[in-house]
Amino acid sequence: MTPEIKAELSDNGVLAVTISRPDKKNALTNDMYAALADAIAKANEDDEIRVLLFQADGDMFSAGNDISEFAAQAMGNGPEERNVFRFLRGLANATVPIVAAVQGKAVGVGTTMLLHCDYVLLSTDAQLITPFVNLALVPEAASSLLLPSCIGHVKAFEMFALGEPVSAESAVAWGIANKVVAAEELRAEALRIAGKLALKPAGSLTAMKQLMRDAEKLTARIDRESAIFAERLASDEAKEAFAAFAQKRQPDFTKIVRK
Ligand code: COA
Repeated sequence: MTPEIKAELSDNGVLAVTISRPDKKNALTNDMYAALADAIAKANEDDEIRVLLFQADGDMFSAGNDISEFAAQAMGNGPEERNVFRFLRGLANATVPIVAAVQGKAVGVGTTMLLHCDYVLLSTDAQLITPFVNLALVPEAASSLLLPSCIGHVKAFEMFALGEPVSAESAVAWGIANKVVAAEELRAEALRIAGKLALKPAGSLTAMKQLMRDAEKLTARIDRESAIFAERLASDEAKEAFAAFAQKRQPDFTKIVRK
C-alpha cells in the first residue's frame, strides 16, 4: 500500500482513510486509487468495519486526478490497469455508510467522490470544484447522473461547464453536503458522526443504503462516462489543457475545431 493513503481502524469500527500527499495537494495517482479501492473492498468484507471515513491531510481535500498521469494516458503511456475504475465502482457498490471530512478545495474526483458519501462535512474554507470541461474532459464517477439529480440541471451544468468553486455554505444549501464546521473541529466532528453511525444496527444501515443508492445504475453510468472520458483524454483539446497546466498558463481552445 502506498504511504499516501493511510487507513486506520478504531475500536468502534470506524475505518479512517486519509489521503496524504499534501505537497501535491493530494492529487490522486494510480497507486493511490488502488489503495482507496482496497479500503472500500476491505470495508465491504470485514464485519468489524461499520463505517468508512474519508479525510485528507494538508490544506485541501484533493486536487483531483494527478494531471501528469492524465497527460501520460493522453499520450498512450498510461498504466496497464487504471485503478480509478476499481475505486469508482467500489464507491458505487460500497455497503457501509461513508462519512467525508473536507477542508479547502475538493477538485474533480475530490468532489465527485463526495456524491457517493452518505454524510459530508465541510470546513468553512471548503470549496467544491468540478473543472472537467476546463480540462476538455467529461464528468466521471456517475456525477453526470448524481449531481443534476442532487442539485438540478442548471446548477450542475454551471458547476461542470464553468468549473468555478462552490462555497461550503452553498454546497450545504444545495444538498451536496450536510453541514459546515470550523476547520479545527472538522476531524473531531467527523469522528463523532462516524462513531454515532457505528452504534447503529449495521445490517439495517447497509440495507437502507442499498435501497437509497441504485448501484447497478450508478455502475452503468460510470462505465458509460469512462468510455467517453477516454475519448476526450486523447483529444487535441485535452492535450492543450494538460500542456497549459504543465506550463502554468491558460489554455487556448479557440483554434481547435470541435470533434
Ligand atoms: N495533478 C498533479 N499535480 C498537481 C495537481 C494535480 N491535479 N494539483 C496540484 N498539483 C501540484 C502542482 O503542480 C504543484 O506542484 P509543484 O510544487 O511541483 O509545482 C503542487 O501540487 C502545488 O500546487 P499549486 O498549484 O502550487 O497549489 P495552489 O494552492 O496554488 O493551487 C490548485 C491548488 C488545486 C487550485 C491547483 O493546483 C490546481 O488547479 N490544480 C489542478 C486541479 C485539477 O484540475 N485537477 C483535475 C480535476 S479533473
